[in-house]
Amino acid sequence: MGDQESFAFAAAEARAGRPAKVKRPRVAREPKRAAETGRGAGRRKPAREARAERGSGADEPVQAGASMRVTASDMAKRQRDISVSEFFAKNRHLLGFDNPAKALLTTVKEGVDNALDACEEAGILPAIRVEISQLSETRFVIAIQDNGPGIVKQQVPKIFGSLLYGSKFHRLRQSRGQQGIGISAAGMYGLLTTGKPITVTTRTGPKKEAHRLEIAMDTKSNEPKIRRDETVAWDVPHGTRVEIELEGSYRGGQHSVDAYIRQISLANPHAEIRYAPPKRSAAARAAEPETPLLDAAAAAGKPAARADDDDDETPAAASAEGEILFPRVTDEIPEETAEIKPHPYGVELGVLMQMFRDTSARNLRSCLQNDFSRVSGRIADEICERAKVSAKRRTGEMAREEAERVHRAIQATKIMAPPTDCIAPIGDALIERALRSEVKADFYAAVTRRPVVYRGNPFLIEVGLAYGGALPAEESITVYRFANRVPLQYQQGACAITKAVTGTDWKSYQLQQPRGALPVGPLLLLVHIASVWVPFTSESKEAIAHYPEIIKEMRLGLQECGRQVGNFIRKRRREADEAKKRAYIEKYIPQVAIGLQQILGLGDPERDRIVRELSEVLERSRKA
Ligand SMILES: Nc1ncnc2c1ncn2[C@@H]1O[C@H](COP(=O)(O)OP(=O)(O)OP(=O)(O)O)[C@@H](O)[C@H]1O
Ligand SMILES: [Mg+2]
Repeated sequence: MGDQESFAFAAAEARAGRPAKVKRPRVAREPKRAAETGRGAGRRKPAREARAERGSGADEPVQAGASMRVTASDMAKRQRDISVSEFFAKNRHLLGFDNPAKALLTTVKEGVDNALDACEEAGILPAIRVEISQLSETRFVIAIQDNGPGIVKQQVPKIFGSLLYGSKFHRLRQSRGQQGIGISAAGMYGLLTTGKPITVTTRTGPKKEAHRLEIAMDTKSNEPKIRRDETVAWDVPHGTRVEIELEGSYRGGQHSVDAYIRQISLANPHAEIRYAPPKRSAAARAAEPETPLLDAAAAAGKPAARADDDDDETPAAASAEGEILFPRVTDEIPEETAEIKPHPYGVELGVLMQMFRDTSARNLRSCLQNDFSRVSGRIADEICERAKVSAKRRTGEMAREEAERVHRAIQATKIMAPPTDCIAPIGDALIERALRSEVKADFYAAVTRRPVVYRGNPFLIEVGLAYGGALPAEESITVYRFANRVPLQYQQGACAITKAVTGTDWKSYQLQQPRGALPVGPLLLLVHIASVWVPFTSESKEAIAHYPEIIKEMRLGLQECGRQVGNFIRKRRREADEAKKRAYIEKYIPQVAIGLQQILGLGDPERDRIVRELSEVLERSRKA
């Protein structure tokens, strides 16, 4: 219910003698609104008075006590466009900037995601540096530097100073970014909280000049404003450095930058990441143990952050030297992924009609063939025939009803699943290697499933698992969630991955599991979805939407890994039982020999021989 409606409703309620439900009447807010919009400042005339002046009282019913109601023409005057940046400045929580700690993490994340994407697209092994400098209790500067291809100078203002501008939205290809919002939103948050523009230094090649630009966003128009533009000496052959000053908070725990960096390096074993956390003051250093959080966690065989320690907000410890290196585990760049066209099965009617209007193809047949994946000439003919629409029909002239018939015909036609070379998995071998380097455990397993399709978009699920060792045995398991190699640290409960994990029967894999909850035991799970379009639940890209096809694939992957760990646990239990029995028997063999010696009157050498032989029998039966 809008403000106006709700106020009218409240007024009616009050007239009827019922308590009004709306606390703040709209009139009280009007002067502020008017001042904000710069329109109609001054006392607002009651509607009846205004109507009398306009002479429109006759056709607009005025009810007793409704003197504050507005007319349609009043409302019409207030209608105006809302720029996307105005919207997101008000709704920054939708982009992951709802509190200072999260804002700091989101900024690092957007910068690193872009750096990795840029390197991968250019076929460069990523070497990324993340620096966080603390200026005051709540003020930080975040710098992310990559060795990627750099950015053409003319593009810099739009990329960093305008929301919804990017190279990834209009394509179906696996990448970390997809919306064209990420880094400009971080810059906008910095600008809103500190008034400082984003600084970008970039160079596209050793023979090219390096440029440094300061970009601010005009949120009213969503247009960039260049505050500074200079050529600089930069001893980097190619790459980009982005610096953002912002109000933030540096915390430890599950949602920390430290946890993010550790997890992103886990899912990107080809990347080298150097991380310089904020330097602590000498007093803070003296009060805390010397070992950095990450190293301490690694030494204990524990992941740096646990997915279930939701409220852990202790300040993260940082190395006194200020830099932590996450070396690459492999020198192989992930396979280049192909961009694909939409698969006909996933296209909704409205989208199909839009495609028919926009296509450059001459007729329906060639549109189906050129603009979709997996539609051959023969399949296109079959669709046209089934839809009873001529193959030669010009799509721009097609009526809605014809488009609907084509849409139905598509669903009824057997079309090959979309190509899957557009997806680059991490791979089971690398997942296992990364897990081994992350955590000391007794058993590891990893599974990369075959690509399948949701809503016409190919996707693939990978699951990795580490069990035992130093992982905590009495707590809920840790789940690392990834989408296109990016860790998801917030909204665990809302994510399809959590649903798939809790919906798997872990008891059959020898783990305890409270009903409908995560299992309990020394287990670390890694679940990765790779797709040309990851269906996030919101723009802040924190959780995966609950598509049944996706949850099913996740379950299958979890079951595959689950069976392996179940077998391991069973085998280990059997061995432990056997060892116990054996120890028991071993303990009594000398007593048996002594008994026999006494009953049969044997000598000591014979008694010793009996001990030897019985031990051998025991050994043989164990091996058998
Ligand atoms: N470090 C970089 N090197 C090269 N190009 C970059 C870099 N950072 C950003 N870009 C370019 O700027 C564009 C906009 O980045 P931005 O983060 O705003 O959106 P995105 O990555 O496309 O999507 P998302 O909103 O999901 O992050 C990218 O699509 C990319 O083309
Ligand atoms: Mg991005």
